[in-house]
Amino acid sequence: MTQLKNDNFLKALHREPTPYTPVWMMRQAGRYLPEYRATRQKAGDFLSLCKNPNLATEVTLQPLDRYSLLDASILFSDILTVPDAMGLGLYFAAGEGPKFERPLRIEADIQKLKIPDIDKDLKYVIDAVSQIKKALQGRVPLIGFSGSPWTLATYMVEGQGGTDFLTIKKMAYSRPDLLHHILKTTTEAVTQYLHAQIEAGVDTIMIFDSWGGALSHQGYLEFSLPYMKVILSNLKMMNTKKIPSIMFTKGGGLWIEDQLTVGSDALGLDWQTDIGIARQKVGEKVTLQGNLDPAILLSKPEAIEKEVKRILDRYGKGSGHIFNLGHGITEHTPPEHVDVMLNTVREYSQQFHA
Ligand code: CP3
Repeated sequence: MTQLKNDNFLKALHREPTPYTPVWMMRQAGRYLPEYRATRQKAGDFLSLCKNPNLATEVTLQPLDRYSLLDASILFSDILTVPDAMGLGLYFAAGEGPKFERPLRIEADIQKLKIPDIDKDLKYVIDAVSQIKKALQGRVPLIGFSGSPWTLATYMVEGQGGTDFLTIKKMAYSRPDLLHHILKTTTEAVTQYLHAQIEAGVDTIMIFDSWGGALSHQGYLEFSLPYMKVILSNLKMMNTKKIPSIMFTKGGGLWIEDQLTVGSDALGLDWQTDIGIARQKVGEKVTLQGNLDPAILLSKPEAIEKEVKRILDRYGKGSGHIFNLGHGITEHTPPEHVDVMLNTVREYSQQFHA
């Protein structure tokens, strides 16, 4: 195995000292980069890009080649590859986001739901992980990921993104047994999927609970959090490699104490939560990742600098902070604004580390 040349991101996950605050960005390989748009065009469309390990490797490395100050890379793929492999028929209608041909609406379909054969139906992702690890040559660690069962279920039941979640919430309130069946099956699929990514060489895993915050507190405790807990504890039992984990619930800032019970090494914070207050709540228990509002990158260099510094000040001295955005970078971001953010993090954060 290649030795990592820069392991500050992993050190921060373990709350070990680093010379500066490490940083990466959610969706760092994406449409705001002209080189990404060129590769996507070569692939034909987004899904074909995900399904081509050579091109997925190419786009994973693009942000690293452009920005020398990034401390981590993330597998280029999508959370919806799992429900696609479960037979729901994922497609992206131009300009409309993800959709499923066969959303889960009737009981008979829900009862028929099957765990995919990872080595066959998701082989392209596992192949991409192996290729990316090779291509990285130990530059920075590689993050593997999955959606949370609840977040995947929102797409599987609603059939698309950008909804008000009324279809899945109606199911949660009227037929919780059906929803739990979807969540249980998806939990098993996600566990096997993340296990395969770990075997193929990812250095950490992140669970994206992008729509956990759409639930009530009680709903979060019933439909989202416990399934993430099952995934992480089963992975701990299955894996000989002990790799750290990150859990990100968008809109989950009010439930940090609950999130601590899951056993992840880090919690991701969206931009709504004050990172100083979050740090007081978590104490020495976990690392915090976040939490710059991605919209600030649309503004001007002075505003970006000021907000980056404010977040670093609010976290304060010591290890256990990974700088990131509070959600994915938007496609309208001028790429040079990312330089401003990265330079500010690198220069300004050193004072907080001994
Ligand atoms: O972070 C990275 O660089 C790795 C790649 C990555 C993508 N999607 C690529 C992508 C990751 C980690 C994801 C996760 C993902 N996908 C999430 C969880 C994180 C989050 O944003 O909350 C979710 C909810 C999805 C589902 C999804 N995929 C949506 C809603 C969309 C459309 C919205 C949009 O931004 O267009 C996608 C498409 C998608 N996934 C794109 C990329 C780069 C854009 C597609 C394109 O190139 O046209």
